Amino acid sequence: REIELITISCSKALETLEYLEEFIKPGITTKKLDTLAESYITKIGCIPALKNYEGYPATICASVNDTVVHGIPNNYKLKEGDIISIDLSVSYKGYYSDIAKTYPVGNISNDKKELLRRTEESLYLGIEQVKPGNRIGDISNAIENYAKKHNLGIVRELVGHGVGIKIHEDPNIPNYGEKGTGPLLKPGMIIAIEPMLNLGKEDIYLSDDDWTIKTMDELPSAHFEHTVLVTDIGYKILTKR
Ligand code: MF3
Ligand code: CO
Repeated sequence: REIELITISCSKALETLEYLEEFIKPGITTKKLDTLAESYITKIGCIPALKNYEGYPATICASVNDTVVHGIPNNYKLKEGDIISIDLSVSYKGYYSDIAKTYPVGNISNDKKELLRRTEESLYLGIEQVKPGNRIGDISNAIENYAKKHNLGIVRELVGHGVGIKIHEDPNIPNYGEKGTGPLLKPGMIIAIEPMLNLGKEDIYLSDDDWTIKTMDELPSAHFEHTVLVTDIGYKILTKR
């Protein structure tokens, strides 16, 4: 029953992100995207789960260019060549979902294109490790190896996590680690895997607003996240069609 409700929550989160996608164009403010997200989530019978989470002031995280994650929506107008990561979580009847994706705004540089493609690929390589008998470290290691191979900086301070009756549950899922280590994956577990990779170095800092996390070298960063169910034979991505 819980898996069913979390599955519905995940499809609502996906639906919201797909709705927002249409609006990601030069000229729109991140605040406008936030307002659109909030009314849409409410309209489809859910509650924006990030709002007021530990004091977070908005519905989505909107992280542009060198912002890694937790960018607070504001009056910044997207411009051609930007990348924007949108992270959102909804609650449906008390059951949570978590999804994030980085989008290009119009035409972007080849470096940024590659960063997006590689970060998404690292997420899928992590997800492919999800099956009963494997361990969290197998996911972490797959992401780390791929990021290193392509010289991308791995953000270490933030991790994936269990998802369910809270947005963040055990276990932590780092984006680096050793094969065969960490908690064992079992059917019925639901986890969010979310690599954050930097075009430059891995170093990040927390801005004065106490939320926005940016790269130290000011190079762009990407973030892709899916909520995934461990099945009897492998995995099912709940935040995907
Ligand atoms: N959805 C985010 C995650 O991937 C949570 C952001 S926490 C917030 O775990 F406090 F910034 F909302
Ligand atoms: Co998450």
